[in-house]
Parts: sequence; structure tokens; C-alpha cells
Amino acid sequence: MFNGKKVSLCITGGIAAYKAAEIVSWLKQNNALVQVAMTKSACRFITPLTMQTLSANKVMTDIFCEEVEGVAHIELAKTDLFAVIPATANIMAKAAHGLADDLISAAILATKAPLLFAPAMNVNMYENVHTQSNIKHLTSVGAELVEPAEGRLACGDVGRGRLASVQELKDKISSMLLAKQDFAGKTVLVTAGPTIEAIDPVRYLANRSSGKMGYAIAKAAKMRGAKVILITGPTNIVQPAVDLFIPIQSATEMREAVLENFSACDIVIKAAAVADYRPLKVSEQKIKKSENLMLELVKNPDILQEIAARKGDKIICGFAAETENMHKNALLKLKNKNLDLLAANPVSGKDNAFGSDENRLTLFFKDGQVRELDKMTKDKAANTLLDAILELV
Ligand SMILES: Cc1cc2nc3c(=O)[nH]c(=O)nc-3n(C[C@H](O)[C@H](O)[C@H](O)COP(=O)(O)O)c2cc1C
Repeated sequence: MFNGKKVSLCITGGIAAYKAAEIVSWLKQNNALVQVAMTKSACRFITPLTMQTLSANKVMTDIFCEEVEGVAHIELAKTDLFAVIPATANIMAKAAHGLADDLISAAILATKAPLLFAPAMNVNMYENVHTQSNIKHLTSVGAELVEPAEGRLACGDVGRGRLASVQELKDKISSMLLAKQDFAGKTVLVTAGPTIEAIDPVRYLANRSSGKMGYAIAKAAKMRGAKVILITGPTNIVQPAVDLFIPIQSATEMREAVLENFSACDIVIKAAAVADYRPLKVSEQKIKKSENLMLELVKNPDILQEIAARKGDKIICGFAAETENMHKNALLKLKNKNLDLLAANPVSGKDNAFGSDENRLTLFFKDGQVRELDKMTKDKAANTLLDAILELV
């Protein structure tokens, strides 16, 4: 699959270091040339011998590595993909600040290859303001991140910090290594996340959209060469490296941002869960507690319908979040809103897409074709959706 592409796989010192072994083995089996590098701390968790055997290549562990021809950190930097799996808080702090006091941090400074971090650590370390700001910085300058998962951690704490699943890591590596520049020259506008509709200065109406699907699409389009405009409601996801990032709160603000950027784009993918209604009046003061409260709601503008009406030769892809009658509702939306493509996702039951890292999309095409996709990571679903859009361009 990887046809001799080079991967520098750097292992740093965390409990999850052993999981890198499976990635190395998979890369090797799929014909990648793997150069493993390990920090001093990583070598305390798993032996270089394991990695050497799996990669069929000498492992680099020292910047003053005499066995390597040339200069170790410069050789390590010359690659098609530079992946740090698992990435400690320490290596991300060093990378974010341009430190170069060991082999891997120096190679990160020297590399021009796409950079991938897969953090794994204790939940408090992960949520620490410094770690979060380092991650934010790294992703804003173009590094890719595979977010850690939530669950029970090796230290006994529960929370976000587990290394992402091996499947998620493989999907990400594949999409980075095999990224075609097939969206070069195209401007893609993506909307993501929920909108929130103010009730008073304290409260708002919202929905359960996490923004993960829209962000995955924006990142995949960027990786495939598109110019990307991401318009997003409030989410907990770190800002990806897109060309224009526009955070909004309400449906009205989203409409303004979409209309302002609509003429500049070739493709619009509306993955946001835009609130259908907003309170008629937004109270200037906090509404005091009373027995019952009646909120009068008014309909929000239908952004999708509005842009589809003036679409010209732009491709417009909508999303539908359905809890029942998915086929019927999706076909109706596709037709009524004059869309080229509609991606429907279930938002209840075992395949509920809201907040999940996976999605089971069904694609409805304008010409009547229906394509039911398997359940897959949102990264993979994003690329599959982009493939479908390319068929229409
Ligand atoms: C048992 C143990 C487990 C650790 N697990 C992690 C971890 O999962 N993630 C992390 O960021 N640091 C972890 N650390 C701390 C790092 O090993 C430490 O910050 C080290 O300096 C990282 O060095 P490196 O980034 O050069 O590999 C752990 C330390 C110990 C002793």
C-alpha cells in the first residue's frame, strides 16, 4: 500500500509506547520504509530491539548516533511522514517552543515532512493549560493531531489521555501518507458544530453536535490540497490549520459568515447542526426562576436552502441528522433544498454520530444513487465523502 514511502516513527516516554510496536509492524507489512527513533525515556518502557526487529532497521536513540551515516537528526527529518506515537507532554512542549536538545526534538525542527502527534498521558497532564496551549500552537502551524481517547488510564485516573485506538492511528497515517492533491485549486467551505441561541446572558439553547465530523472534513480537504474556510459553532476541538477559521455562536451569525464567503468557494459542505429555532426575545437580564417558563421560539433562517437557491455551478453537500425514517427524510431534504449530495447520519441508538469518533454515513446523490457506507472513523468518512464530491465536480 505504501510503496516504499518513508516514515520516521518517533516513540517518546509513556506507558503507551508498546502500542507503537503494532503500528511499526503494520507499516512494515504495508511496504513502508520505517525509521524508528526513541527517546531515552521511551527506551525505559520498551526496548529498541523490539522496534528494530519489527522495522527491520536500526533504531535511532541518540543525536550523537555513530552508526548512522550522516547526521542522525537530519537523516531522521528526511521522510514522507514524521509521526510521534505516543507523544509525551514533554515532546509537544519542546516542539511548540522550538527546543532541540535531543534527537527527536531536533529532527522535528529540521523536518519539512507532514508532522503527526498522537498524545497519550494522564488526564491532568493532558488538560493542563500548558499542554493544551502547546497542542493549539502545534496544530495551528500545521501539525496533525490524533486526539487521545477517554477512559481508564494506566495510572488509575479516568478521563481523556489514552492513546487513540490503533485503528484510528492507522487511518490517520494512511490518509497522510496517501494524501492526493486532488482538491488543489478548489476552495471548500465547511460548516461544523452546533449553533447556540441565547435565551438570556446566562442561558442558551444548543444541540449535541460535537463538530468532529465537520472538522475532520475540513482537515481532510486541507490535506488534499484545498483552500479551506471553516465556519464553526462552539466546540471543544483544537483549531485545525485551515486557511480561514471563523468561530460563530448563533445560526444568524453562521448565515452571515456563510453568505460573506460563499462567492469565494467552489464546494460547500454544511456539516453544522444549525438550530432550527431561536428564542423570539433575548432577555437582557438573567431571567429569574419562576414556576414555569414559556419560551416563544421563532424559526431560524434556512442557510442551506438560501445558498442552494443561488448555487450556480458550485457543489453543495448537506448533512442530515436523523433519528427515524432516514431514507425518506434525507431524500426529501435533498430534493427540497436542491442539493448535489446529502450525507445522512444517525443521531440515536448504537450508531449515534453525535460526539462519537465514528460515523455511519449514507450518501444520497442528486441522480438518485444511494450509497450506504460502513461505520468508520470520522477521518475516514471525511475522505470517503470528499471522494464522492469529486465524482460530482
Ligand atoms: C511510569 C511512567 C509513566 C509515564 N507516562 C507518561 C505518559 O503516558 N505521557 C507523558 O507525557 N509522560 C509520561 N511520563 C513522564 C515522561 O516519561 C517524562 O516527562 C519524560 O521526561 C518524557 O521524556 P521524552 O519526552 O523525552 O520521552 C511517565 C513517566 C513514568 C515514570
